[in-house]
Amino acid sequence: MEVYEPQEDSFLLQDAILVENLRGRNCLDLGTGGGIQTKAMAKAGAKKVTAVDLNPDAIKTAMENNKDIADKITFFQGDLFDFVRKDVTERFDFIAFNPPYVPSDKIKWKDLDGGKKGREIIDIFLAEFYEYLAKKGILFLLVSSLNDEKEVTSILEAKGMNVEIVAQKKIFFEELFVLKAVKN
Ligand SMILES: C[S@@+](CC[C@H](N)C(=O)[O-])C[C@H]1O[C@@H](n2cnc3c(N)ncnc32)[C@H](O)[C@@H]1O
Repeated sequence: MEVYEPQEDSFLLQDAILVENLRGRNCLDLGTGGGIQTKAMAKAGAKKVTAVDLNPDAIKTAMENNKDIADKITFFQGDLFDFVRKDVTERFDFIAFNPPYVPSDKIKWKDLDGGKKGREIIDIFLAEFYEYLAKKGILFLLVSSLNDEKEVTSILEAKGMNVEIVAQKKIFFEELFVLKAVKN
């Protein structure tokens, strides 16, 4: 399967991660693709990074691209949080997700297609991530104006999180945002 080549969305999230202080943090890179955000987390000081992707070829590429920091990273191939064993109580201090967010009739290209309003994977993620985030933990979520970033913000706020936009960029017919949400 093809591995997502970093694009504007990847670079916007990468730059936001690079200015975050992740020293000593236990981090999760969901939908790692070629591992660009894993590398950024390690550069920002992460103690440990878990990198997950549905696509086995993405995992291979992310491993190859991060072999210089292999001692810090654990890779899993699978769907969202399926990798967390039910008896594991590990929580992440920092989670970043650059999801497939492009609105589509059906999900054909799993790296891009987000289904209705581009929100199918995002909404599953929003329903699941909270229990895996440590107290005071931080989420960086890439969303597009096509996904209704205000509604996504409201969903995060309804969980009691403090939300701000830490990066944004207009491209073609949409605007990209990196939402930073902090758990209380
Ligand atoms: C937009 S790409 C982002 C890749 C990389 N993180 C970046 O910033 O360039 C989305 C990635 O999420 C992965 N993905 C899609 N659905 C997933 C799921 N349900 N669970 C885990 N990974 C998924 C895709 O295979 C793809 O690598």
